[in-house]
Amino acid sequence: MCADPEVMRHFPYVLTREESEAQVGRFVRHWDERGFGLWAVEEKASGAFIGFVGLQYNEEWSEGEHKTEVGWRLDRACWNRGLATEGTRASLGYGFEVLELERVISFTVPENAVSRRVMEKCGLVQRGETRWRGLDHVWYAIDRREWEAAEN
Ligand SMILES: CC(C)(COP(=O)(O)OP(=O)(O)OC[C@H]1O[C@@H](n2cnc3c(N)ncnc32)[C@H](O)[C@@H]1OP(=O)(O)O)[C@@H](O)C(=O)NCCC(=O)NCCS
Repeated sequence: MCADPEVMRHFPYVLTREESEAQVGRFVRHWDERGFGLWAVEEKASGAFIGFVGLQYNEEWSEGEHKTEVGWRLDRACWNRGLATEGTRASLGYGFEVLELERVISFTVPENAVSRRVMEKCGLVQRGETRWRGLDHVWYAIDRREWEAAEN
């Protein structure tokens, strides 16, 4: 998945197997350190691994005190079936109901129209623009009360 240039179009470069394994190592460490993180996504019908979605804490985030991000990456064969939206909603539910977060953020490069659409479908609202790891980004957020209002 991370070697597919189309999947990685909005990232600076595709990953080698070693880089991909190192990234999974960071995801696992995040679970060990914080007790939550990114989940592997399996297609229900086949059980195949098709990507990841979930929550990540970003220590270096500078736009306010709420630093937990919802993020995603899926195999190209599974796009446009609503799976990122389903996984994002589940992640937000976990963040607000289990972790009791007050706000969940998400961010991407401005050109990533699909991710922005997923954010909007899940009730995140654009709050600003920022620089993140050397690139311009737009950032979105949803607060607990907005999540609760949408759920009821
Ligand atoms: C972003 C990603 C996870 C979305 O997964 P997905 O399961 O296809 O998303 P969904 O099906 O839930 O929703 C996609 C939405 O974008 C819309 N969309 C698709 N192509 C689009 C485009 N070119 N421009 C605007 N919207 C687009 C779809 O129509 C759908 O919206 P709708 O339900 O209103 O019709 C997937 O495209 C991906 O892995 N991309 C590469 C990795 C990436 O960019 N990760 C995020 C980094 S911040």
